[in-house]
Amino acid sequence: MEDRLQADRREGVTVLCRLDEISDPGGKGFVFGEGKARREIFVMRKGGQVWGYANRCPHAGIPLDWQPDQFLDPSKTLIQCATHGALFGIEDGLCVAGPCKGKSLTPLSVRVVESTLECPAVVWDTDG
Ligand code: FES
Repeated sequence: MEDRLQADRREGVTVLCRLDEISDPGGKGFVFGEGKARREIFVMRKGGQVWGYANRCPHAGIPLDWQPDQFLDPSKTLIQCATHGALFGIEDGLCVAGPCKGKSLTPLSVRVVESTLECPAVVWDTDG
């Protein structure tokens, strides 16, 4: 079960989790809102670096993970969609193999501040 994001918003920032709550390398999914306002994102981590994406495969528009927080291929070097196996770069979200080759995941701005992962809350306020 993916973490349901606790509404912890302050001054336009949404606090997601501590960096050490994400495997290294690995990823973590987050769910915002309910019903039509529901949004899913995931964050990938390698060392102290993080990259955020909408959890929506450009092939069929569905979440990439088949188990909570499982986004990597067996080599742990690429993001892999669980449904048809498309492979994406961790750093750029570009599909390098599979049915949506050449398309990209939708990037989201995320950052680490004092070991805490944050994203701008405004991302979620614009299309709810
Ligand atoms: S839905 Fe992701 S590869 Fe088909």
